[in-house]
Amino acid sequence: MACRHRSSTTTLARLAKPARLSPRLTTQPQVQSQVASAVRCFSSSRPSQLKETRCQQGKFTSETYPELKRDPRYGQVTKEHVDYFKGLLGTESAVIDGVTNENATDDIEPFNSDWMRKYRGHCKLVLKPSSTEEVSKILKYCNDNKLAVVPQGGNTGLVGGSVPVFDEIVLNMGRMNNIIEFDEVSGILTVEAGAILEVVDQFLASKGYIFPLDLGAKGSCHIGGNLSTNAGGLRLLRYGSLHGTTLGIEAVLPDGTVVDDLCKLRKNNTGYDIKQLFIGSEGTIGVITKAVIQCPQRPKAQNVALFGLESYEAAQQAFREAKGHLSEILSAFELMDGSSQALVRQVTKKNSPLEGEYPFYCLIETSGSNSDHDGEKLQTFLEDVMEKGIVVDGTLAQDETQVKALWSFREGIPEVLSHLGGVYKYDVSIPLPEMYQLVEDTKARVEEAGLLGDTDEHPVRAVVGYGHMGDANLHLNVSTRRYDERVEKVLEPFVYEWISKRQGSISAEHGLGLAKKKYIGYSRTPTMVGLMKQLKDLYDPNAILNPYKYI
Ligand code: FAD
Ligand code: MLT
Ligand code: ZN
Repeated sequence: MACRHRSSTTTLARLAKPARLSPRLTTQPQVQSQVASAVRCFSSSRPSQLKETRCQQGKFTSETYPELKRDPRYGQVTKEHVDYFKGLLGTESAVIDGVTNENATDDIEPFNSDWMRKYRGHCKLVLKPSSTEEVSKILKYCNDNKLAVVPQGGNTGLVGGSVPVFDEIVLNMGRMNNIIEFDEVSGILTVEAGAILEVVDQFLASKGYIFPLDLGAKGSCHIGGNLSTNAGGLRLLRYGSLHGTTLGIEAVLPDGTVVDDLCKLRKNNTGYDIKQLFIGSEGTIGVITKAVIQCPQRPKAQNVALFGLESYEAAQQAFREAKGHLSEILSAFELMDGSSQALVRQVTKKNSPLEGEYPFYCLIETSGSNSDHDGEKLQTFLEDVMEKGIVVDGTLAQDETQVKALWSFREGIPEVLSHLGGVYKYDVSIPLPEMYQLVEDTKARVEEAGLLGDTDEHPVRAVVGYGHMGDANLHLNVSTRRYDERVEKVLEPFVYEWISKRQGSISAEHGLGLAKKKYIGYSRTPTMVGLMKQLKDLYDPNAILNPYKYI
């Protein structure tokens, strides 16, 4: 069986040269046989070879944003509270206690700091429940005692939502990681919220199925975190959003009420679809404890190609052609600009898979059931876009190692940027024709402010763009040598105003968290924000869940 192999974040191995397509595509039979003979293998690996070298966390969030004040409504965590939780959760490892034990600071630090090393809280108590019942008792106790709580999954979120701002208790879901049930006929999976996406996907692979979400952080992120952020990722083009593929949810409300909606039906029009509220609500109205997911059959064949293009206009044309030629087998269409790729090559020391350098690159993935059939389609597409002069140069992966290598040029970008220092991340949805203009305009603005340059006195190293072009979702990233408030002031609210003028979304997939809380009005009307606040007040009247964030 042909299958696919792709890395979860960056394997950063040196690339074996894939099959190169000449601009005139004179090697058609050869390319055809290369495509047909490609062996693809689904697999994955642990992320983050560069993780340890990322920019060191320094300031607390409360220092970076002194306007944020601890809400005096919340109680302080005391020894009595800690004793209650220890009594409830039993095992030593389920409670990390920095309240009565000063030596626990190092153990708590990873739960206080986010993946970008941008946000850092003052939490002194981490709780790790192992059952829904325990989550329920914890939340009821916290609600009764007005103790603020931050639900936490794999802590890979990119908007500061997963870590405390002040001394909120961290409720980490990592111990609730069981795969509860899988129906091999329907593909319906029931899983606990703390299960790691990659582990779940590997389990599904053994059954011939696939999780309908894939993203670079899959080696660390949890299913509960994915649902809470409504993560989009690399397969959304093919499988749609989690709002569609989630059939059921179990969640615990702040007062301890267990909402059991573990429905396994595709069709169920009985009343409001309450579970949708938990998807994308970033732990502000309840803690997701279990989920039921409709999983698709795992594709038997996967082909990946990477192209160089001279302009953003050409990338748009290539996307249009890809949809026409590849329709049902197109599973990803990703965009990377030349600047992002230059940084990937610089940091990873990998050679480019193409001969020249280009202002834009696109990565196309097809997923189907017949490798020969898919290969023919991809080849026809390639011939066409090259003959039309849309694509200048391209390369096709011939085996699983090359599939993985090509993907690493795209999936590796966040980690490479993080390795280089601080990153101001903007995850936006804008109608395609104007999408990349945001990168150009932002770069011009940062340059004009004198913040961009090759030397150390310039905080900004590069302004880059990449993302899920197939979903009109751009990741504008401002890569810095260090976090610097002057940079943030130049970028915000400029970026949000720019997006708002074009009726875009200021958060396509990463969510609001702390980073975008105060900017929600750029994408939502006052009526919508008012309705959201009503829901928050209804479900969490004491506002104990994930305070200072979201709305
Ligand atoms: P966390 O980061 O722990 O939490 C995220 C939010 O969800 C927080 O507000 C938290 O309070 C809440 N939460 C977590 N678990 C629960 C729960 N059980 N119940 C209630 N609330 C909960 N995102 C994308 O959308 N697409 C991508 O392609 C993508 N790629 C990424 C690549 C890299 C290298 C990295 C580091 C991140 C990427 N992300 C991406 C962002 C992130 O991985 C996702 O948002 C992911 O879904 C977060 O899952 P998590 O388990 O790490 O959640
Ligand atoms: C991605 O698509 O790589 C992720 O959303 C992460 C990021 O934007 O940095
Ligand atoms: Zn993304």
